[in-house]
Amino acid sequence: MNTIKLYTEHLSKFVNERDMSSIHKELIEAKRTLLDGSGLGSDFLGWVDLPNNVSAEELENIKKDVKTLSGKAKIFVVIGIGGSYLGARAVIEALQSEFSPFENNSEHPYIVYAGHTLSEDYYYQLLQLLDKSDYAVAVISKSGTTTEPAVAFRIIKSHMEQKYGKEEAARRTIAITDARRGALHDIAIQSGYHIYVIPDNVGGRFSVLTPVGLLPIAMAGYDIEKLLRGAQDMRKVCVDKDSYEENPAMLYAALRNILYRKGRKVEILANFVPHLKYISEWWKQLYGESEGKDGKGIMPHSLSFTTDLHSMGQYVQDGERLMFETVLSVAKPQHEVSIPKDEQNLDGINYLLGKTLTEINHNAELGTIMAHYDGNVPVLRIEVPSVDEYVLGQLIYFFEFACGISGYTLKVNPFDQPGVEAYKKNMFRLLGKPGYESK
Ligand code: PA5
Repeated sequence: MNTIKLYTEHLSKFVNERDMSSIHKELIEAKRTLLDGSGLGSDFLGWVDLPNNVSAEELENIKKDVKTLSGKAKIFVVIGIGGSYLGARAVIEALQSEFSPFENNSEHPYIVYAGHTLSEDYYYQLLQLLDKSDYAVAVISKSGTTTEPAVAFRIIKSHMEQKYGKEEAARRTIAITDARRGALHDIAIQSGYHIYVIPDNVGGRFSVLTPVGLLPIAMAGYDIEKLLRGAQDMRKVCVDKDSYEENPAMLYAALRNILYRKGRKVEILANFVPHLKYISEWWKQLYGESEGKDGKGIMPHSLSFTTDLHSMGQYVQDGERLMFETVLSVAKPQHEVSIPKDEQNLDGINYLLGKTLTEINHNAELGTIMAHYDGNVPVLRIEVPSVDEYVLGQLIYFFEFACGISGYTLKVNPFDQPGVEAYKKNMFRLLGKPGYESK
């Protein structure tokens, strides 16, 4: 298969054979725990088989909604936060042109996001855009009670109803939520929205292959069946294989736990193409929320190179040695751009003539990896053959599976997030929410 690969040559002075073989037993045990559902958080393991469990009926419904709403909306607002937002954005931004907002020839609506911020100016500006554009909405919340998307939806629902009237606004609204519970579920039933269900046994940050991710990704014009095929193929490898050579998730989980035990408490996910910025954001949530608990866990951080080599590059090269780096490397671009010839060569870059930009970028990447390794940063490289739906499906499943076994190896519950409640309680008390008054 056209598959992602892990390269470990810039780890050799930090990780040895003995480290690898001694942690292997722990990983096998963690994997067994994950697959037989005997570990902490086992009510939330629905994502493991998800790539094979999306029904033809669900895919058909998504296609129908995409067709209907693409016909009448230029903008599609995706309302959600955390796991109900980042997966869709990661895939869409990896695939779409950086300049899509300036292109208006697409058959599909342009996706904008809401519910991930409480910034007043953001909503003012969004409403200005929605005033002058035809739009539709997906409001996504598993609990159906999260404050940020609830606030955003109330503002946008009111705008839609004024713009289109209640009935047409309802036809332009999709709710993705719990099958039975939550305020969003109740609003959706009462208003007659088309509802997609988030399975009970799939937690937010593992839900990108449910309608949470699939509907917005399809609405943006991308092939969700191809995405699922990538995830299915990676699932087979992750579930069936145990060796480091055959199962990249085992290898990744092993390396990060070994490095963590040797004092590397921060993992930097570095990319060399800006399209992958939101893959990093999704990855940070996946690992940060799954592993950062009980006083433990690698802190996930991300950088976009070469941009950040001119800022944070200094710290990585020369600062505290608390990190390791995982470089997300893209082998092949979708398009070619060549460097034009200039006889005068005043900029001194004629030595690059005949090279593609990707060749130059790959040399920047290799140069960076070598420099960071020399500066005592362990560097792991994940190579993706290209950025398309099939490969992104693989990458998503690979990171999810590795996260599950890595979390169990760390001996935490990778599927809960008790820590995110603390800010909510304070915010509710400060805002005077009934039931949260100060004692
Ligand atoms: O991974 C998680 O569980 C969280 O990030 C949630 O997805 C996030 O808090 C949003 O929750 P909800 O979908 O219930 O609105």
